[in-house]
Amino acid sequence: MPEIGIIGGSGIYDPELIKQAEEKKVATPFGDPSSSPIIGEIKGKEVAFIARHGKEHIYNPTEVNYRANIYALKKLGVNRILATNAVGSLKKEIEPTDIVIPDQIFDRTKKRESTFFEDGAVAHVGFADPYCNQLRKLINNEIGDSNSFSLKEEGTYVCIEGPMFSTKAESDFYRKQGFDVIGMTAIPEAKLAREAEICYTMIAAITDYDVWHTEEEVSMELILQRMQKNEKTIKRILEKVIPQIPEERKCECKKALEGSITTEPANMSD
Ligand code: ADE
Repeated sequence: MPEIGIIGGSGIYDPELIKQAEEKKVATPFGDPSSSPIIGEIKGKEVAFIARHGKEHIYNPTEVNYRANIYALKKLGVNRILATNAVGSLKKEIEPTDIVIPDQIFDRTKKRESTFFEDGAVAHVGFADPYCNQLRKLINNEIGDSNSFSLKEEGTYVCIEGPMFSTKAESDFYRKQGFDVIGMTAIPEAKLAREAEICYTMIAAITDYDVWHTEEEVSMELILQRMQKNEKTIKRILEKVIPQIPEERKCECKKALEGSITTEPANMSD
């Protein structure tokens, strides 16, 4: 049973990364995940991989079936998720192709299914620290700065609805708030992982300076071009970090539901 899940963002579909890979169809009460999970090994550890936007990049950030993705990973036995994301930078010193391991999220999404608890099931789950701090520390300790990228060990990720990029006014506003990076997919992925009591952390690879930076227009073409380098970096990070993930979870994520459920959801128990 794979205990480690990887949700790959734009550009992270490298078939070389996972050895002895096999696709496994997983049914969920929320429909199909973005892609059938690939089960295989990275440096001897069993993992399950889902391409967040689908194998052919067919789902925009609003359309991704986040609930099915998290549910499918949980059903496969995953208790740790490493999410990889292409993000824009809101600070001059965080440069394209740098890596950020965010510790906070600011939610600006508007129309996404963000909970497993509905239709008579109610829970108010703690989300003050949206990313697993045990995993964040491990990643930061394992990778450090390298010759080929620089690492920022914390930062606030603002999640916009998309699929459009921000206006300059919005981007300037986020900068004034002190936010570090901007993307479109951390919410509700991180929330659902918490509700599923799965540790969740993000390896955010910078592709652009968003729209506040007047010297460079942000575009999908630019993002995909930069992701080619970022993809290599992320692959190296995953290969380094995954073998070091200890069995024991010394964090609060594993008991996120303790004391928070008012009414049990029927659909989490099958
Ligand atoms: N993903 C990558 N770059 C982005 C940006 N500038 N805004 C939102 N999402 C992004």
